Amino acid sequence: MQSSSAEFTHQTVLCDEVLEFVRNGIGSVAIDATLGLGGHSEAILAGTDLKVVGIDQDAAAIKLAKERLARFGDRFRAVNANFGEIGRAVVENDIAAVIADLGVSSMQLDDASRGFSFRAPAPLDMRMDKDSGITAAELLETSTEAEIADILYYYGEERRSRKIARWIAEKNAAGEPLRTTEELASLVERAIGKKPGDKIHPATRTFQAIRIAVNRELDVLKEFIPAAIEKLNSGGVLAVISFHSLEDRIVKQAFQRLSGKCSCPPRLPKCLCGAEKKVVILTKKPILPSEAEQEQNPRSRSAKLRACKRLD
Ligand SMILES: C[S@@+](CC[C@H](N)C(=O)[O-])C[C@H]1O[C@@H](n2cnc3c(N)ncnc32)[C@H](O)[C@@H]1O
Repeated sequence: MQSSSAEFTHQTVLCDEVLEFVRNGIGSVAIDATLGLGGHSEAILAGTDLKVVGIDQDAAAIKLAKERLARFGDRFRAVNANFGEIGRAVVENDIAAVIADLGVSSMQLDDASRGFSFRAPAPLDMRMDKDSGITAAELLETSTEAEIADILYYYGEERRSRKIARWIAEKNAAGEPLRTTEELASLVERAIGKKPGDKIHPATRTFQAIRIAVNRELDVLKEFIPAAIEKLNSGGVLAVISFHSLEDRIVKQAFQRLSGKCSCPPRLPKCLCGAEKKVVILTKKPILPSEAEQEQNPRSRSAKLRACKRLD
């Protein structure tokens, strides 16, 4: 399914598969925790009798999705909030399903002014919520060389993190902090070069890592999953689409813990990881997009969908 406004489009990933899980949930309301341009919400509103509450921390996405979904009247409500605050942001009860389609939308990537992409010149911002937190430029200017290296290594799995961090720290020390996407992309390219056979731009991992850090994406995801389960009815379903291994690992481990699987070291006298049997896992292995979807929407290639059902 393709969502669009006059300027922007976003192809909804794993739409039928998500809808199938939503249909299995017991209740009258679905929460779309990552509304974006409203592709999944539209499919739920058109394909079920459920009401939908759509959350997004990006005010621009909320505006576009509201326009797109206006025809569903009071069956749809949009909330401009971080999904880490799902407990407070959603006042509705009788929740059949919560869905999340993580990361940034094509709309955000394609809007050069947001600074998410190394392909377009823009101020180095990368905040999904433009009203809170610090920009990517501020993060790089105020972090130490070691902190920058850790961000690049852990969030971007960038093996040459130390070298890039050293170059960024040298810029800071010279009183020339990076201000634009172009400056960062060119610094990375000069620092590590392009390896023969590299399919991606040398700055791809750096940009991903900094975006994750700026938006605290992994920390918020860890807060979100148990809070989403608390919102669900007994028999309600949580479905999460992730786009890289760090996110998928967090989703997988959180589901395991919530299904009662203890992850404490074997010698501990009692469980400290908080495992508690609250859900049953519906996806032993993650669901991947079909070959046809991957071909038609290359961005879907890294998507993984996991779902679980609340027990009591
Ligand atoms: C991949 S897009 C969702 C696309 C949508 N499913 C569609 O098909 O049109 C992800 C959206 O989630 C939002 N988002 C990401 N992290 C968020 C968070 N922690 N809280 C609220 N919104 C978030 C982003 O701003 C973005 O608009």
